[in-house]
Amino acid sequence: MNDLIAAARDAQDRAHVPYSEYRVGAALETAGGAVFTGCNLENANYSNSLHAEEVAVAEAVKNGHREFSRLAVSSDRRDGVTPCGMCRQTLAEFCDDDLAVICDEGGDDVTEYTLGELLPNTISEETLE
Ligand code: THU
Ligand code: ZN
Repeated sequence: MNDLIAAARDAQDRAHVPYSEYRVGAALETAGGAVFTGCNLENANYSNSLHAEEVAVAEAVKNGHREFSRLAVSSDRRDGVTPCGMCRQTLAEFCDDDLAVICDEGGDDVTEYTLGELLPNTISEETLE
């Protein structure tokens, strides 16, 4: 199995999902090959919930990383979850358009996108210059 998908699946075990019961794990690989993971953390007020990809990005950036090559994302339903619109924008803040986004479809099946395919022509730091 894809090593990054395996890390995303492992991260699901630590998800806090009493409301949706939909576990998501994300694994973000740096240009140097380090991997940072995240899981979704829901909140009783619903709107404060953190998404797995956000947590993975925060973990990596907090540890000093700014160059990324691949992201894997997996839900425990193995239903090919893709980053939501908010997470795509969060990824775009720190990752280039050619970031590989690898979505777990169960077993060894994956669908791979680039971030640019998932979020073309978005607002970025350059837009504001
Ligand atoms: N979720 C993520 O963690 N990442 C996404 O990009 C899609 C949605 C989580 C949020 C919520 O805890 C659950 O999946 C159902 O939406
Ligand atoms: Zn999201």
